[in-house]
Amino acid sequence: MKSFHNLSEYKIIVTGGAGFLGKNVVRKFGEEGVPSENIFVPRSKDYDLRRESAVERMLNDFPADILVNLAAKVGGIGYNMENPGVLFYDSIIMGVNLIEQARLHDVKKFVAVGTVCSYPKYCTVPFKEDDIWNGYPEETNAPYGLAKKALLVQLQAYRKQYGFNGIYLIPVNLYGPGDNFKPESSHVIPALIKKFDDAVTERKDSVSIWGTGNASREFLYVDDAAEGIVKATKLYKKEDPVNLGSGMEISIRELTTLIAQETGFEGEVSWEKTKPDGQPRRCLDVSRAIEEFDFKAKTPFEEGLKKTIEWYRANKDSIY
Ligand SMILES: NC(=O)c1ccc[n+]([C@@H]2O[C@H](COP(=O)([O-])OP(=O)(O)OC[C@H]3O[C@@H](n4cnc5c(N)ncnc54)[C@H](OP(=O)(O)O)[C@@H]3O)[C@@H](O)[C@H]2O)c1
Repeated sequence: MKSFHNLSEYKIIVTGGAGFLGKNVVRKFGEEGVPSENIFVPRSKDYDLRRESAVERMLNDFPADILVNLAAKVGGIGYNMENPGVLFYDSIIMGVNLIEQARLHDVKKFVAVGTVCSYPKYCTVPFKEDDIWNGYPEETNAPYGLAKKALLVQLQAYRKQYGFNGIYLIPVNLYGPGDNFKPESSHVIPALIKKFDDAVTERKDSVSIWGTGNASREFLYVDDAAEGIVKATKLYKKEDPVNLGSGMEISIRELTTLIAQETGFEGEVSWEKTKPDGQPRRCLDVSRAIEEFDFKAKTPFEEGLKKTIEWYRANKDSIY
């Protein structure tokens, strides 16, 4: 398989490149010396990647050497419960179309970005890549997680039959400046920041939170995730999937206390125990990324959280 040490020589498509993670990935490619005219970010209004004809047109318009696929519909637990059909269909059909057309257009490297939601509900902690097939995912995110995991099979099959150079990365939950704070689709960190910030502004003395608080999560700062993706694009060429995480683990209860403190909320927190917790625990084994392409997350969690809250407070009037 070909190496991509000097990325500045290549034309790169970043699907989803205008999204939360995508903007950071595009910036990192720029920092690696890739000129802006060598990076193409297709927008959904111009190229609906659920249509194979649009994917074909995109690759004719911009014949890329490398394709990084970040396009997806993404959301927190409430969004996942309300949109299982969209999440399954969009994730799988965009991936299938992109991998097939990339093969037909002689793309030299395909970087697929999966999700921690693909792991079995009760996976041994820390989650090792080799355990990804050992059980059904947690029900609220199974359609999304399984659709994304099927793309790992497609890439491995294409490698075997066609020698197609596709790699597969599995990021854990992301957070950071620029995250989605819309209540109908946000993930847990932006949802909690908004709740507590609203409570402080509106002088509320109590806030209620979904679930029991007992579930745990790992979080990776978005800038670190982007660095991991760029490093893997340059250096990783094997068929085995690779986790992208920070290796930390925090309970939702501890996370809630931390965000309440950081936002200055001093009232009561109550737990809506009839609402789902989602997967009981999440924490990735991050050793393969260190061994294979020297990726280790840098941002301490409290520092990343502070930056995220600062960003939200500076931008909240313009993001809805
Ligand atoms: N956020 C997380 O915590 C997390 C964790 C693990 C993995 N991931 C993965 O990381 C990737 C990026 O996530 P994100 O949080 O950055 O999501 P995001 O901000 O919602 O960005 C997703 C992008 O996908 C594009 N897209 C959606 N439907 C499309 C379509 N039909 N045709 C073309 N483009 C389409 C959108 O482009 P337009 O703006 O042009 O509509 C959007 O900018 C996803 O693959 C996700 O599964 C995310």
